[in-house]
Amino acid sequence: MRTTYTGLVDQKYLEQIVTLTGWVHRRRDHGGVIFVDLRDREGIAQIVIDPDRPEAFKLAETLRNEYCIRVTGKVRARPAGTENKDMVSGGIEVFAHEIEIYNAAQTPPFMMDEDNVNEEVRLKYRYLDLRRPQMAKNLLLRAKVSAAAREYLNERGFVDIETPFLYKSTPEGAREFLVPSRIHDGQFYALPQSPQLFKQLLMVAGFDRYYQIVKCFRDEDLRADRQPEFTQIDIETSFMTEYDVQDMMEGLIKFLWKKGLGVDLPDFPRLPYAEAMGKYGSDKPDLRVKLEFTELTDVMKTVDFKVFRGAADLKDGRVVALRVPGGAKLSRKEIDDYTAFVAIYGAKGLAWIKVNDVTKLNDEGLQSPVVKFLTPDSLKAIIERSGAQNGDIIFFGADRKKVVNDAIGALRAKIGHQHGAELGFFEKGFKPCWVVDFPCYEYDEENKRYVAAHHPFTSPKDDHWPLLDTDPSQVLAKAYDVAMNGWELGGGSVRIHRPELQAKQFATLGISEEDQRAKFGFLLDALQFGAPPHAGIAFGLDRIVTMMCEAESIRDVIAFPKTQRGQDLMVDAPTPVTEKQLRELHVRLRNPQVAG
Ligand code: AMO
Ligand code: AMP
Repeated sequence: MRTTYTGLVDQKYLEQIVTLTGWVHRRRDHGGVIFVDLRDREGIAQIVIDPDRPEAFKLAETLRNEYCIRVTGKVRARPAGTENKDMVSGGIEVFAHEIEIYNAAQTPPFMMDEDNVNEEVRLKYRYLDLRRPQMAKNLLLRAKVSAAAREYLNERGFVDIETPFLYKSTPEGAREFLVPSRIHDGQFYALPQSPQLFKQLLMVAGFDRYYQIVKCFRDEDLRADRQPEFTQIDIETSFMTEYDVQDMMEGLIKFLWKKGLGVDLPDFPRLPYAEAMGKYGSDKPDLRVKLEFTELTDVMKTVDFKVFRGAADLKDGRVVALRVPGGAKLSRKEIDDYTAFVAIYGAKGLAWIKVNDVTKLNDEGLQSPVVKFLTPDSLKAIIERSGAQNGDIIFFGADRKKVVNDAIGALRAKIGHQHGAELGFFEKGFKPCWVVDFPCYEYDEENKRYVAAHHPFTSPKDDHWPLLDTDPSQVLAKAYDVAMNGWELGGGSVRIHRPELQAKQFATLGISEEDQRAKFGFLLDALQFGAPPHAGIAFGLDRIVTMMCEAESIRDVIAFPKTQRGQDLMVDAPTPVTEKQLRELHVRLRNPQVAG
């Protein structure tokens, strides 16, 4: 039907007759001549229709935006001065001889070159939204990245194996989506949160290198970087150490950036979890921002100022400073806005010091609501440890560790994004890192028990096993994440491959023997049959592509995503179902009137 993609006609086709297909992006009438910007997924070409071709001209007069058409014509150079260097086809135009209208279009709810279209409207008319050049580009890049992932993994002997979506309910982490069984009255499948146990069982089965680009399902509260169904590049290996796996996976991520963007990523520094939390308050630090926390917990045990002292004396308390070079120029309003911002994370205030003269550690040299409460020694420590200079501002966080890390960690990123470029503490580009040596367990205060920080199949460090009996909070895991620019792109671990150790870990997690059998009996059984040492990782493909596109939300790289409220606005899901369907599934609604 066509010679090539509309967006790809360039100088090579000069003086040739071509046939192009696509959609009318724009039509302009210019004193007798009609210009049509014709668009397909690859881009736009300019079509010129002249009254000397009366038949084509008559049709061209009827063209409206988003009509789907075919054009046959001759490629010619654009007149000097009208070239567009930003487009593949920017040097040429097509002088039309013949036009065919395949289909007319109603006036679309938004124009394909319009910015800031309401997202709900975009999602309702997603098939139009995906025509927009930016969205087409995102999806084409996504396809390129997943093809590159397959290429890298295939070359290294990884085998692509599918695993079931109808799985069973297990206490693995996030809330699950359940699917009622028609055949088994009162019983349910669960959609997998990831193929975690299947890939481990494939290792037991002897497929020592597995991968799958696979949908995972989690019924979580949604955010910009989370969808209820999302895609993992899911990987498992046998006979590789945590360092072997990390090296090979670092190679994968570098390969994806090279293939997708032509970008050479730097080597990934390895950051122990404790160091990441200490310096950045986050296990997915944005290393483009060159600000670090200054630890002050020890110093603040010696002051009277209740806000700092109280936090320093807490068992899980922390006091830190965040020095912002050149930040003394921040206005009162900006400081107030930051105070409101950290409150979102539970901070009860945001103390600050503007450094006017580091040689005068008093009200004269330091402008601040809190200097009068601090001792000369503590002020000296603040200035020395943070390395503060004249013209800086220092912010403080004092609270439980989690609040301080969340609040000042988020503040660090926010100030970095807002002021880092002008004040010289923001470095552009992609800054990946490994975060390693995670704690194995987190204490769940609400339920008074330990939960797995990664998942319950992750192995503790070899010499940490005895700590399971004494102090599980000190146990480190053979777990690792890849973080980049403030996002977690992937995470994995070495797994436990001995049944008695897996059972011991389940016990630490408070899973009774009966429950272990009921939920994970198949795993414990499989580990009895010569399970190999194995380790793996999963990357969030949606997040990787979002980062490459510099999009704001992973919704912009998913063809048909859900809203923040888990709805598909185009097909209109979820919806109520009929009483007959429910009866077949042995389900009775608790609130039929709400379901409608
Ligand atoms: P984890 O739960 O860390 O590990 O998930 C791996 C990666 O998947 C992505 N991700 C998501 N992306 C979009 N929306 C979501 N709701 C979402 N949840 C997770 C993230 C994350 O880093 N089975 C283990 C991996 C392993 O141990 O091998 C797992 O699923 O980028
Ligand atoms: P207050 O004594 O509550 O008026 O607080 C004095 C100063 O300390 C104000 O600038 C507050 O913003 C700041 N502040 C209060 N609580 C905290 C906290 N938990 N962490 C950091 N600064 C705080």
